Amino acid sequence: MKATVSGENRDIRAVWFEGGKVMMIDQRKLPAEVAVKSFSGYMDVAEAIRNMTVRGAPSIGASAAYAMCLAALKGCDLTEAAEDIKAARPTANDLFYAVDYMAGKLSEGADPVVAADGYAQMMVDKCSRIGEFGAELIKDGMKLMTHCNAGALATEDVGTALAPMRKAWGQGKRFFVYVSETRPRLQGMQLTAWELNQEGIDHAIIPDGASAYYMSQGVDMIITGADRIAENGDFANKIGTFDKARVAKHFGIPFYVAAPISTFDFNTKAGKDIVIEQRSETEVTMVKNIRIAPVGSKALNPAFDVTPAELVTGFITEKGILKPSEIHKVKQ
Ligand code: MRU
Repeated sequence: MKATVSGENRDIRAVWFEGGKVMMIDQRKLPAEVAVKSFSGYMDVAEAIRNMTVRGAPSIGASAAYAMCLAALKGCDLTEAAEDIKAARPTANDLFYAVDYMAGKLSEGADPVVAADGYAQMMVDKCSRIGEFGAELIKDGMKLMTHCNAGALATEDVGTALAPMRKAWGQGKRFFVYVSETRPRLQGMQLTAWELNQEGIDHAIIPDGASAYYMSQGVDMIITGADRIAENGDFANKIGTFDKARVAKHFGIPFYVAAPISTFDFNTKAGKDIVIEQRSETEVTMVKNIRIAPVGSKALNPAFDVTPAELVTGFITEKGILKPSEIHKVKQ
C-alpha cells in the first residue's frame, strides 16, 4: 500500500520481517501518523495482536506467522508458542490457520523466515485475485458501502473488500464509497478512509447509524470482509455488519463478503458456534483516553457479530465468487 513514512513515500505492508525483527505499522496511530513498531519476541507480537497494534483477520494471520518464525529462530518450544499466539484473539480464523500453517512448515524443516515471508506473500496474492474477481461487479457510477477496514492494513496488502475497489478504480471505473465510521475503535473512519484517500477513491465517512438512511437513498452494492466463515455460510465480521446485511436485504441491495480461503472454517458448522470476542468496555466509554460516558454506567463491547448465510449474495474469494450454497467447493 502507498504510505508516507517519516516524510518518505513508500510502498509498505502491514507487517514484515527485517533485521531479525518483526516490523509492523501501528494501526492505532493512524491516520495521524504512520508509525512503525518492531518486535524481537513472539510474545510481543502476540500482544500486538491482542492490543490491536495490528488487526484485520489476514494481517493477524501474517503477524502470527512471523511470531512463529521468531519462536523458531529463538529456539522456543513451538507447541507452547503456538498456544500462546493462538490465545491472542478468538474470532479471526486466520490466526489459527497461520499458526497451523507455520507449525506444519517448521516440522518439515522449512527456513522460518522463508516460510513466514511465503505465508505473507500468499495472502497478498490471494487478495489480488479477490480484487480481480470483485472488480467485475463494480460498474461506473455505482454507490458502494463498506464497514470496518478490510483494506491493505487488514490483509498485509491490497485488501479484501477494498481490493475490488482498488482494482476497479485502477481500471478507470469511477464510483463512490460510503464508509461507516465503525465505533468503538473507528476502523472505518481512521483506516478505510485513510486508504481510500491514499488511492484517490471518492468516498465519505458516515455515522454507523446512518447506513440505513443512505441505503434508502440508493446504494448499489455492499462489500465487507469477514473474520470467520462457518460451513453453512454464516459469517462473523465487525459488530454492525449484521445490521447492514439485514437492511440491505430489505432494500434488495446485493451484499458481498470478500475473504480468502484462510477465513473459511469448515470445522465450525454454523454461526452460532463462532466465538465472539468481548473487548474492554473502556473502548466504548473512553475516546482518546477521555471518559465520555457517565461515571457509574457500564458498557458492553462485543467486537463482532454473526450474519446468517441467507443475507449474503456471494463470497468473493481468490477462487472466484461463490454463493453461500457453493462454499463447500473451496473446502480443503
Ligand atoms: O477488530 P478488527 O479490527 O480486527 O476487525 C476486523 C474486521 O472485522 C474485518 O472486517 C475483518 O477482519 C476482515 S479484514 C480483511
